[in-house]
Amino acid sequence: MNKVVAVMRKYLMTFFVAATLAPAMSALAADEKAAEKSAPHGADWVKEKTQVCASCHGKAGVSETPMYPTIAGQYESYLMHALKAYRDGDRNNAIMAGQVQGMTDAQLKALARFYAKQESSLHIPELNP
Ligand code: HEC
Repeated sequence: MNKVVAVMRKYLMTFFVAATLAPAMSALAADEKAAEKSAPHGADWVKEKTQVCASCHGKAGVSETPMYPTIAGQYESYLMHALKAYRDGDRNNAIMAGQVQGMTDAQLKALARFYAKQESSLHIPELNP
Protein backbone atom coordinates (compact mmCIF):
# COMPACT_ATOMS: atom_id res chain seq x y z
CA MET A 1 0.00 0.00 0.00
CA ASN A 2 1.11 3.51 -0.75
CA LYS A 3 2.74 5.06 2.27
CA VAL A 4 0.81 8.31 1.98
CA VAL A 5 -2.50 6.46 1.89
CA ALA A 6 -1.49 4.49 4.99
CA VAL A 7 -0.68 7.69 6.87
CA MET A 8 -3.92 9.27 5.72
CA ARG A 9 -5.86 6.23 6.92
CA LYS A 10 -4.23 6.37 10.29
CA TYR A 11 -4.99 10.06 10.56
CA LEU A 12 -8.60 9.58 9.51
CA MET A 13 -9.01 6.73 11.97
CA THR A 14 -7.74 8.88 14.82
CA PHE A 15 -10.08 11.63 13.81
CA PHE A 16 -12.99 9.19 13.56
CA VAL A 17 -12.34 7.75 17.02
CA ALA A 18 -12.02 11.22 18.57
CA ALA A 19 -15.18 12.44 16.86
CA THR A 20 -17.11 9.40 18.09
CA LEU A 21 -15.82 9.46 21.63
CA ALA A 22 -16.07 13.17 22.34
CA PRO A 23 -19.88 13.33 22.60
CA ALA A 24 -19.92 10.14 24.66
CA MET A 25 -17.37 11.60 27.05
CA SER A 26 -19.29 14.82 27.52
CA ALA A 27 -22.46 12.79 28.08
CA LEU A 28 -20.62 10.92 30.83
CA ALA A 29 -19.49 14.18 32.42
CA ALA A 30 -23.08 15.44 32.28
CA ASP A 31 -24.27 12.25 33.96
CA GLU A 32 -21.78 12.76 36.74
CA LYS A 33 -22.94 16.33 37.24
CA ALA A 34 -26.55 15.19 37.37
CA ALA A 35 -25.67 12.54 39.96
CA GLU A 36 -23.84 15.16 42.01
CA LYS A 37 -26.91 17.39 41.94
CA SER A 38 -29.38 14.63 42.69
CA ALA A 39 -27.44 13.10 45.62
CA PRO A 40 -29.64 13.95 48.61
CA HIS A 41 -28.43 16.89 50.70
CA GLY A 42 -31.65 18.38 52.02
CA ALA A 43 -32.80 18.84 55.61
CA ASP A 44 -33.87 15.19 55.97
CA TRP A 45 -30.53 13.92 54.76
CA VAL A 46 -28.66 16.30 57.07
CA LYS A 47 -30.79 15.18 60.03
CA GLU A 48 -30.07 11.53 59.36
CA LYS A 49 -26.37 12.02 58.62
CA THR A 50 -25.66 14.19 61.62
CA GLN A 51 -26.90 11.43 63.94
CA VAL A 52 -23.75 9.55 62.94
CA CYS A 53 -21.55 12.63 63.50
CA ALA A 54 -23.21 13.10 66.89
CA SER A 55 -21.72 9.88 68.23
CA CYS A 56 -18.32 11.61 68.30
CA HIS A 57 -18.90 15.34 67.93
CA GLY A 58 -21.78 15.44 70.36
CA LYS A 59 -25.38 16.43 69.86
CA ALA A 60 -25.51 19.38 67.42
CA GLY A 61 -21.71 19.47 67.22
CA VAL A 62 -20.84 20.33 70.81
CA SER A 63 -18.38 17.66 71.85
CA GLU A 64 -18.49 16.17 75.33
CA THR A 65 -15.01 14.68 75.17
CA PRO A 66 -11.74 16.43 74.40
CA MET A 67 -10.91 13.63 71.95
CA TYR A 68 -13.35 15.04 69.42
CA PRO A 69 -13.44 18.67 68.32
CA THR A 70 -16.50 20.84 68.80
CA ILE A 71 -17.66 21.78 65.33
CA ALA A 72 -20.82 23.73 66.21
CA GLY A 73 -20.59 27.46 65.60
CA GLN A 74 -17.42 27.19 63.57
CA TYR A 75 -17.25 29.20 60.35
CA GLU A 76 -19.11 27.47 57.53
CA SER A 77 -16.21 28.10 55.15
CA TYR A 78 -13.77 26.55 57.61
CA LEU A 79 -15.93 23.46 58.13
CA MET A 80 -16.36 23.07 54.37
CA HIS A 81 -12.63 23.38 53.88
CA ALA A 82 -11.93 20.76 56.57
CA LEU A 83 -14.54 18.30 55.28
CA LYS A 84 -13.26 18.58 51.71
CA ALA A 85 -9.70 18.09 52.92
CA TYR A 86 -10.68 14.84 54.69
CA ARG A 87 -12.55 13.62 51.62
CA ASP A 88 -9.78 14.50 49.17
CA GLY A 89 -6.94 13.28 51.37
CA ASP A 90 -5.41 16.72 52.00
CA ARG A 91 -6.05 16.10 55.70
CA ASN A 92 -4.96 12.70 56.70
CA ASN A 93 -7.27 11.28 59.34
CA ALA A 94 -8.58 7.76 58.92
CA ILE A 95 -11.70 8.30 61.02
CA MET A 96 -12.87 11.44 59.26
CA ALA A 97 -11.86 10.25 55.81
CA GLY A 98 -14.22 7.33 56.28
CA GLN A 99 -17.02 9.62 57.42
CA VAL A 100 -17.04 11.83 54.33
CA GLN A 101 -15.91 9.32 51.73
CA GLY A 102 -17.94 9.58 48.53
CA MET A 103 -19.89 12.64 49.61
CA THR A 104 -20.60 15.33 47.04
CA ASP A 105 -19.64 18.98 47.50
CA ALA A 106 -23.32 19.78 48.01
CA GLN A 107 -23.54 17.25 50.83
CA LEU A 108 -20.42 18.57 52.54
CA LYS A 109 -21.75 22.09 52.20
CA ALA A 110 -25.06 21.08 53.76
CA LEU A 111 -23.20 19.59 56.74
CA ALA A 112 -20.93 22.63 57.05
CA ARG A 113 -23.94 24.95 56.97
CA PHE A 114 -25.79 22.90 59.58
CA TYR A 115 -22.93 22.92 62.09
CA ALA A 116 -22.05 26.56 61.47
CA LYS A 117 -25.57 27.45 62.59
CA GLN A 118 -25.53 25.49 65.84
CA GLU A 119 -25.07 27.22 69.17
CA SER A 120 -21.75 26.73 70.90
CA SER A 121 -19.05 28.53 72.77
CA LEU A 122 -17.29 28.91 69.40
CA HIS A 123 -20.13 30.96 68.02
CA ILE A 124 -19.33 34.55 67.10
CA PRO A 125 -22.71 36.04 66.22
CA GLU A 126 -21.47 39.23 64.51
CA LEU A 127 -19.06 37.38 62.29
CA ASN A 128 -20.86 34.13 61.72
CA PRO A 129 -24.60 34.79 61.70
C1 HEC B 1 -15.88 8.02 65.05
C2 HEC B 1 -15.80 9.42 65.48
C3 HEC B 1 -16.19 10.49 64.49
C4 HEC B 1 -17.33 10.57 63.72
C5 HEC B 1 -18.47 9.57 63.63
C6 HEC B 1 -17.25 11.83 63.00
N1 HEC B 1 -16.10 12.49 63.33
FE1 HEC B 1 -15.50 14.33 62.67
N2 HEC B 1 -13.79 14.16 63.68
C7 HEC B 1 -13.40 13.10 64.48
C8 HEC B 1 -12.03 13.29 64.94
C9 HEC B 1 -11.23 12.34 65.80
C10 HEC B 1 -11.61 14.53 64.39
C11 HEC B 1 -10.23 15.16 64.51
C12 HEC B 1 -9.41 14.64 63.34
C13 HEC B 1 -8.11 15.30 63.10
O1 HEC B 1 -7.24 15.27 63.98
O2 HEC B 1 -7.94 15.86 61.98
C14 HEC B 1 -12.73 15.04 63.62
C15 HEC B 1 -12.70 16.24 62.94
C16 HEC B 1 -13.77 16.80 62.29
C17 HEC B 1 -13.80 18.11 61.69
C18 HEC B 1 -12.66 19.13 61.69
C19 HEC B 1 -12.80 20.04 62.91
C20 HEC B 1 -11.77 21.13 62.94
O3 HEC B 1 -11.89 21.98 63.84
O4 HEC B 1 -10.88 21.16 62.08
C21 HEC B 1 -15.03 18.29 61.13
C22 HEC B 1 -15.54 19.50 60.40
C23 HEC B 1 -15.77 17.07 61.37
N3 HEC B 1 -14.98 16.19 62.08
C24 HEC B 1 -17.08 16.87 60.94
C25 HEC B 1 -17.74 15.63 61.05
C26 HEC B 1 -19.01 15.36 60.43
C27 HEC B 1 -19.82 16.35 59.63
C28 HEC B 1 -19.31 14.07 60.74
C29 HEC B 1 -20.51 13.27 60.29
C30 HEC B 1 -20.69 13.12 58.87
C31 HEC B 1 -18.24 13.54 61.56
N4 HEC B 1 -17.30 14.52 61.72
C32 HEC B 1 -18.21 12.27 62.11
C33 HEC B 1 -14.21 12.02 64.81
C34 HEC B 1 -15.42 11.70 64.24
